[in-house]
Amino acid sequence: MSSHGDPVPMTSRKAGALKGVAEVPGDKSISHRALILGALAVGETRITGLLEGQDVLDTARAMRAFGAEVEQYGPGEWSVHGVGVGGFAEPDQVIDCGNSGTGVRLIMGAMATSPITATFTGDASLNGRPMARVTDPLALFGTEAVGRAGGRLPMTIVGAVEPVPVRYHVPVPSAQVKSAVLLAGLNAPGQTVVIEAEATRDHTERMLAGFGAEIVTEVTDEGRVITLTGQPELRPQTIAVPRDPSSAAFPVCAALICEGSDVLVPGIGLNPTRAGLYETLREMGADLTYENMREEGGEPVADLRARFSPAMRGIEVPPERAASMIDEYPILSVVAAFAEGETVMRGVKELRVKESDRIDAMAKGLRANGVTVADGPDWWTVTGMGPGGVPGGGFCASHLDHRIAMSFLCLGMATKTPVRVDDGGPIATSFPVFEELMTGLGARIERSNR
Ligand code: S3P
Repeated sequence: MSSHGDPVPMTSRKAGALKGVAEVPGDKSISHRALILGALAVGETRITGLLEGQDVLDTARAMRAFGAEVEQYGPGEWSVHGVGVGGFAEPDQVIDCGNSGTGVRLIMGAMATSPITATFTGDASLNGRPMARVTDPLALFGTEAVGRAGGRLPMTIVGAVEPVPVRYHVPVPSAQVKSAVLLAGLNAPGQTVVIEAEATRDHTERMLAGFGAEIVTEVTDEGRVITLTGQPELRPQTIAVPRDPSSAAFPVCAALICEGSDVLVPGIGLNPTRAGLYETLREMGADLTYENMREEGGEPVADLRARFSPAMRGIEVPPERAASMIDEYPILSVVAAFAEGETVMRGVKELRVKESDRIDAMAKGLRANGVTVADGPDWWTVTGMGPGGVPGGGFCASHLDHRIAMSFLCLGMATKTPVRVDDGGPIATSFPVFEELMTGLGARIERSNR
């Protein structure tokens, strides 16, 4: 089983104005998919801007274990020689996906309809997360899964020898489940249909089309009906990965709460299935503008400019927006603490099964810093204390969750007294340059003793 090594305690203290240009790394979701689809194409896929965070590096290693050649040829520049749909070899070792739910669930889907067996594991966070949401639909193809109680990793997947195509209504709003079924459908004959009631991130669909698969999405009364024709020959691609809106959220939100800040975050992917946070911030009264809007590699992209916003108000975040900002609720709750009035977040049950129970982790840490938070099974509220109004001084547990660690470090940039985080190590899974990028803007983050 993998581990993150020794905990890295960190302290964040009041910084004053954050200023400058924040070049955040490549999109994590798109990076995983570029490696996996590259491995399933015939020939060489070239990728630039790949996120070199631990989650994605674990997926690169997994693709090698299934027989693809995966090489780095420069910073963020990678080459994948794929083996073709149905061409995966049986790995001769356990596949360790580290902290990554996206990695393990997408790879399980990608191998589920090949006549091979693979065993998956991860760190303590990943091994506690539910996998039945993926193995249930994979069973419809003829795939078998044997894991620990409650459908947890470590888990062995026995690929279907004669897969049949599937029609599946995704019961929870999850791009990982949708993508696992679509990737499994690649090696099934005929048409695999996935129906989602709520739109989730559509990078898999966009990228499959780019690789030459026949895939059609229709918007109906049932939701989005996605039909994939199986057994295509995927053509290798050149992929430029846009910068990650979920990572951009940290410098953007930190700028909104730190007095005098003015930060430009260029080249951020603003796919509508990912951009809910920015819409929400603008509704709260954030001084956030999109500049230079354009399209790159099939994804909408803009430069984001965020300035200190002393007049933000709490709002009720529309529940139907949840899927488009699901990873951003932790940092939104930090911004909400500096707004006037209450921010209400409903329809967010999925936050309880991420890298940590994110409602619980944020509620405890915010309370430790003097903020009032109420929560229930699928909702939570944060009572704002106004600009500069949060006392701070708390000690926060990150629960092996990168976004929890980064959210509390951003909190400390604007609280009256410093905020301590027990372990910033997991930040390397998605945003390895977070510390240097934020200190470059003027943040005061230090590695500290507990
Ligand atoms: C992701 C989907 C989301 C998100 C995760 C990345 C993806 O998870 O939270 O960080 O790349 O498909 P769910 O599918 O569980 O909602």
